[in-house]
Amino acid sequence: MRLRASTDGASLEALRVEYLGKKGRLTGALRALGTLAVSERPVFGQRVNRAKEVLEAALAVRGEELRMRQREAALQGSAVDVTLPGFGAAPGRPHPLTRTLTDICDVLGGMGFTVVEGPEVEDDYHNFEALNMPADHPARDMQDTFFVDDGRVLRTHTSPVQIRVMERQPPPLRIIAPGAVYRNDDDATHSPMFHQVEGLMVDRNVTFAHLKGVLTTFLRKVFERDVSVRLRPSFFPFTEPSAEVDVGCVVCGQSGRQCRVCKGTGWLEILGAGMIDPAVFAHVGYDPEEYSGFAFGVGVERVAMLKYGIDDIRLFYGGDLRFLRQF
Ligand code: DAH
Repeated sequence: MRLRASTDGASLEALRVEYLGKKGRLTGALRALGTLAVSERPVFGQRVNRAKEVLEAALAVRGEELRMRQREAALQGSAVDVTLPGFGAAPGRPHPLTRTLTDICDVLGGMGFTVVEGPEVEDDYHNFEALNMPADHPARDMQDTFFVDDGRVLRTHTSPVQIRVMERQPPPLRIIAPGAVYRNDDDATHSPMFHQVEGLMVDRNVTFAHLKGVLTTFLRKVFERDVSVRLRPSFFPFTEPSAEVDVGCVVCGQSGRQCRVCKGTGWLEILGAGMIDPAVFAHVGYDPEEYSGFAFGVGVERVAMLKYGIDDIRLFYGGDLRFLRQF
């Protein structure tokens, strides 16, 4: 009974001392042996020793039992429950702009265009002058330029990279130049910093038909559907002739019916393009009699907004996870 009742090492030890200790009851009984008649001593001694053995064994068993129970309790307390669901590590994913930029570069890369980069702080010469926009040219007005210092600007487009490439490399060439550009403009469809991809191809006998073919293939791959492509006459100082390129509205399927995105026209303006103006070739020392080429510039935010149906450019830069998780 008292063995069962002792539930820890201390009470078990007290029990041992009470019976088997120096002043314990069994020890006392053995000491009393001397007071007995000689004939009674062997039997009594045997009984006491037997009792001692039984008690020692019982104490050992109970001790082991208690140690086991203690270990179990300790394991229970600190146990790792391997059946609990883990903490999910949310996988990261590319920003929708990064994804669009990568898609654009992948498609054009597959068509033989090589990626090059240029500086974001650009000099007046490369951003304007060499692109056939001299100091008093009215086209500069449209560029909403951020001026840095002594004639340097934050590049207003990726077109200066055309000049930098042609300055250091003879034709033929086929390059794209992705990157950030800056304009002092800020509303739902304009951001002071946005991204463009510039394309440039120069070789013998490059024609407007090549331009149209490359752009049509490019746009159909990027929008992942058979969009219609249309070129409208336009003007850029660095191309002649120039075109603005539209795709059939990807939101209303070109019907135009009640479509806020294409404003009922069925078409979306997506990029600017044209044949390189001979005046640009003159700045980089290319012979316009021998070579011709085309160029185009496409806005990455604009492609992403149209492709994913995003109506406010500021969503790209807000870092709102509810927006970003949709991609
Ligand atoms: N640089 C022009 C802009 O940002 C876009 C552009 C138009 C680029 C025609 C070109 C081009 O290469 O040929 O407004």
